[in-house]
Amino acid sequence: MELYEQVFENNRQWVAESKERDPEYFKNMAMGQSPEFLYIGCADSRVQPEDFMGVSPGQVFVHRNIANLIPNNDMNSLSVVQYAVEHLKVKHIIVCGHYGCGGVAASMEHHDLGKLNIWLRNIEDVYRLYRVELDAILDKKARQNRLVELNVWEQCLNIMKLSFVQRARAKGDYPKIHGWVYDLENGVVNDMKINMRSMMTELAPYIIE
Ligand code: CO
Repeated sequence: MELYEQVFENNRQWVAESKERDPEYFKNMAMGQSPEFLYIGCADSRVQPEDFMGVSPGQVFVHRNIANLIPNNDMNSLSVVQYAVEHLKVKHIIVCGHYGCGGVAASMEHHDLGKLNIWLRNIEDVYRLYRVELDAILDKKARQNRLVELNVWEQCLNIMKLSFVQRARAKGDYPKIHGWVYDLENGVVNDMKINMRSMMTELAPYIIE
């Protein structure tokens, strides 16, 4: 059987098993969602947040794209963040990059990749901001991995800059913004422990009144 056909077989089994565990499972699921997390991660097929976070459907609102970017003019990711903050009222926004990210690696190669060039330019801009630090790292893999981390930090800043995020935070302590890096080689997720206070200090000149 081809994998394509197999997935329908898998689905039937999964439905049956889920109902056996809890006959009301799908009925309850259909009633609505109130996830605590917004997860923004890479589209990479090997990085599956629900698996490595050990959470169930309904607990994480997910947005994934190449290299976990939230560009300032990307209606798609910005709509996701706004919906998650204003309507779902998530407590935590997680930006999760991963070591060995193909998108980050490609941004350092400068080949013509068509439309992808425009998307990857967002990461090239991050490189430009940290050129001195990055150019000093001689090992290519280590340099890529550092860019993965810096890219996560910059995307967290992009989220922090959003007026609706600032409005929500002015009313309380949430949403908290977290930068993570997932390591494909051992499955471990590392919290970069972003200090939101220092992030706000860095952003202070750009905050909208
Ligand atoms: Co990736």
